[in-house]
Amino acid sequence: MVDLQTYLNTPLAIGNRTIANRLVLAPMAELTHIAFREVMAQYGGYGLLYTGMAGATSVPDENPKASTVFSWRPEELDHTVCQIFGSDPEIMARAAVRIEAEGFFGVDINCGCAAGAICRRGFGAALLSDPEQAARVVRAVRKAVKIPLIIKFRTGWEDNPEHAVSMARLFCDEGADALIFHPRVAPDMRTRPPKWEYIGIVKEAVTIPVFGNGNVASRVDAEKMISLTGCDGIALGRVALARPWIMAEWTLGRTPSFQDYRDAGLAMAEFCAKHFQARTAFLRFMKFSPYYCGNFQFGHALNKKLARSGDIDSLIKVLKDFLDTAPSINSRPTPNLFG
Ligand SMILES: Cc1cc2nc3c(=O)[nH]c(=O)nc-3n(C[C@H](O)[C@H](O)[C@H](O)COP(=O)(O)O)c2cc1C
Repeated sequence: MVDLQTYLNTPLAIGNRTIANRLVLAPMAELTHIAFREVMAQYGGYGLLYTGMAGATSVPDENPKASTVFSWRPEELDHTVCQIFGSDPEIMARAAVRIEAEGFFGVDINCGCAAGAICRRGFGAALLSDPEQAARVVRAVRKAVKIPLIIKFRTGWEDNPEHAVSMARLFCDEGADALIFHPRVAPDMRTRPPKWEYIGIVKEAVTIPVFGNGNVASRVDAEKMISLTGCDGIALGRVALARPWIMAEWTLGRTPSFQDYRDAGLAMAEFCAKHFQARTAFLRFMKFSPYYCGNFQFGHALNKKLARSGDIDSLIKVLKDFLDTAPSINSRPTPNLFG
């Protein structure tokens, strides 16, 4: 079995940059925004953070002061990747140019989102069923920028690891610097377990770093994914929402206390209120709430109470009152609260 802390703290080259550790916050729409990333920053311990997916059409003219997706704190730019979705090579390239000019660590092309509204327009996971178009997009973005280019993708539309391998090779040949691979088929949102063995097959097929992703919720899971697949790093999604200190726990040896559970929830509410208009602040907190509430016994009841509070100031009061009761913590965040 690998020594997790040593493995994760081994630097990794991605294109023309090197990251100090191998844990990445996976992109999650309406969740990995500026406010949540500020919560993560209080703990540290990660190699890279991601934005949620940003529409390539709007990125070139987006106003960071008004956007809830394309906004950042200057100090996070050098370790944050901006993910874009789209399918027009020129539009994608123009978005990447803006991302590079703003100073982001890198740009990521979304080849994994399976939502109908995205795929119907040929974006996200739809690119996996049109390899030629996917190649044109990656080629155009590669030509447009020098910053690291990462592709996040799924197995494809059928349960066939050979397709994932051929897409991984294509991305690599067109100049991608790293891959994040989530081994589920697109029609399966997140119901069946991901097939981690496919990560090993993809990793073997390419010369660029491959991050494994999907259902890693504990140290044991992480160790298992690494030894089973030989992946170069791990992207954590939902568990990082529930426990924003988890990367610091694994890479810096931080021991979480009840205070961390308390601080993370209250900080998220405070940062949502600071970065967003009041209504959006409330909605963004409620998107995060099921993951956070999954930490607590009676988390369902807390989630409902927070939803009923109606605005961000009342929500903070409900949350404080709940935390003052010193609630019991679940050993793993309750998965049935997860989306
Ligand atoms: C609510 C939600 C939103 C997501 N949005 C995105 C997204 O914008 N771009 C993307 O590539 N993946 C997105 N994902 C997928 C995650 O990045 C990740 O692949 C998935 O949650 C599996 O990892 P996990 O088990 O560690 O959560 C999203 C997942 C969730 C739960």
